[in-house]
Amino acid sequence: MIPHRSTALITIIVFVALLLVIFSSSPSPDLESGEKEEITGPAKYIPHPKFPSLNDLHIPSFHPTAHTPPEAQPNSTSGESKWFSNWAWINPFSSSITLDENRSVLPPLRDRPFIYTYYEPNKANDKAEENADAQLLLTWRRAWFAQGFRPVILGRGEAMNSEFYQLVQSLAVKPELEKELLRWLAWGNMGDGLLADWHCFPMARYDDATLSYLRRGSDPAFISRFEHIGSALFAGEKTRINDAISEATKQIQDKAQSATSMFDLVPAEFFKMEQQSSIAYYNSAAITSNYATLAEHLAKSPPEGRVELAELINSHLHTTFHNSFPAGIAVLKPFTEHTTALVEPGLRLSKALARCPDSPHPHLNSCPPNLQTCHPCDPEKPMHVSQPATYRNTTQVFTIGILPHPYTLVSLQQNSAEVTTRHIRRETERDPWLKEVTKEHLGMELGGSARAVVFKKAVAEDGVIGTSLWMTVEALPPDVGQALPSDLLDEFEWQFGFKIPRTSNVDAKNEGEAKDSMQNANPSLQGVEKEYEVLKQARELLNSKEGPRIGIKDVSEAWNLADTEVWRFVRAYRARSVVERKKWEEEEKDFIGAKPRA
Ligand SMILES: *[C@@H]1O[C@H](CO)[C@@H](O)[C@H](O)[C@H]1NC(C)=O
Ligand SMILES: *[C@@H]1O[C@H](CO)[C@@H](O)[C@H](O)[C@H]1NC(C)=O
Ligand SMILES: *[C@@H]1O[C@H](CO)[C@@H](O)[C@H](O)[C@H]1NC(C)=O
Repeated sequence: MIPHRSTALITIIVFVALLLVIFSSSPSPDLESGEKEEITGPAKYIPHPKFPSLNDLHIPSFHPTAHTPPEAQPNSTSGESKWFSNWAWINPFSSSITLDENRSVLPPLRDRPFIYTYYEPNKANDKAEENADAQLLLTWRRAWFAQGFRPVILGRGEAMNSEFYQLVQSLAVKPELEKELLRWLAWGNMGDGLLADWHCFPMARYDDATLSYLRRGSDPAFISRFEHIGSALFAGEKTRINDAISEATKQIQDKAQSATSMFDLVPAEFFKMEQQSSIAYYNSAAITSNYATLAEHLAKSPPEGRVELAELINSHLHTTFHNSFPAGIAVLKPFTEHTTALVEPGLRLSKALARCPDSPHPHLNSCPPNLQTCHPCDPEKPMHVSQPATYRNTTQVFTIGILPHPYTLVSLQQNSAEVTTRHIRRETERDPWLKEVTKEHLGMELGGSARAVVFKKAVAEDGVIGTSLWMTVEALPPDVGQALPSDLLDEFEWQFGFKIPRTSNVDAKNEGEAKDSMQNANPSLQGVEKEYEVLKQARELLNSKEGPRIGIKDVSEAWNLADTEVWRFVRAYRARSVVERKKWEEEEKDFIGAKPRA
């Protein structure tokens, strides 16, 4: 008989052996699949190896694997920047997750809900009208994209793919109902999302309640409709939309003569009415009652009137931006005696944003239809632009931040790009930029990594979207008094959602002979020209792959780990947003409604 103790021992041995077999044959933890799990609460901020307890067991046969995340996360490099999107983005140091010092961990891209609109070119094929429509559609796409949606323009092609198309074609209905039905067929064919008229615009802050509601996705049991704007905007899920269409086709036999809209055909219990005051709808009734001059122009010459309408809407979007930030624009300017050249591009941009919208027609300086009590822009009192040294956590102000690489900052501070290792180690503090920018917010005591965490939140947290713009100085134009490159401004417009007024000291394309210098809050001691020269030398060194002094870059990075980390973070965050937009543009380029279809 086996003694009792041996049984216990054998059991333990068998158990341990089993454990070993299970774990050594299981696939190694793979970050890619781990990333897809929904992790909530604070746990999402920590990297999550699959078997945390194993590290404590010290089983010799187990290799503590921590894989380099797959390079092949789609579109994860752009120029010098590399990134990896993961819930653990808030870690102070990306390299603890990616095992690649050059790869930043960014928050996962926010899901952009689809917003569809239905457009059919006019039958007459009038070029002028088509161009006017194209401008309006571009304004529409830009405005919704900036608010975190994914605008898509549908046409008859999508409606024809619907199973109900033949049926609807065979019915004799009023033209306005037919148009409405085609919109719905195209929408039902696409799926979940919003259906908007292309005269319907988001006219509020990014964090507005209605827009946040629309981004979250709608109640699957209903199709949402919205107060004050009739059938200009719906939100719903695919099955519910198609149920509604199916219901409408049943009703249509009886009501073909009287019905003029979907509301006459679809039972009321399909819809849920939502209150809102954030959507502006420029239908002819609103134009006639609010913008009489424009209404006259529209009647006299439709194409010119429509171009004017696009300008009017653009100016309202710009006015809404002004109204959203009562405290104005803050261009961060730490180390004022050395950073005049560094922040100048940001100052140029802010001056352009602060101006009143460009408009050849003075009467266009009005309020959007949903917000008749706005403060229209007054050229005598442009938006306030300040240049504080520190970051303030408030959504009342729009923040523009330009980050220098640690080496660039040292060069500026010592007024020469001839930086030595000795100088960095002996004469400079660690992470000066972060410390300066967050000292009011976080005090003087905190270490660099804790500051980096807070700073990353200030750049990329959900609550701050649409209230700031961050970039690195190394990505900006290098010369004294130089305007911003046009393609950079084009890119910014997709973030702001309106056209930035392009005067000569903003846009390089319009740059005249007289390059003027901006009025700076704190003129620099050594002269702005010298600063530009230092910036240029620093940029050249950072971009070069070899050379006698390339080591100094590594020294400055190693000395300023947190400054380097946030600099890379901002560079990658910006690069990713550009790639995201370009990818979407690429997917949509064949479907821009205004393009004549061959
Ligand atoms: C993104 O990746 C796809 C294929 O992986 C490629 O075709 C496309 O050009 C890339 N887009 C950008 C903007 O890099
Ligand atoms: C990061 O980039 C630097 C310079 O581009 C390079 O020298 C270094 O080897 C890279 N590090 C890794 C882990 O790829
Ligand atoms: C700013 O303040 C809000 C609320 O007070 C907070 O949730 C957020 O984390 C703060 N952001 C930073 C970067 O400190």
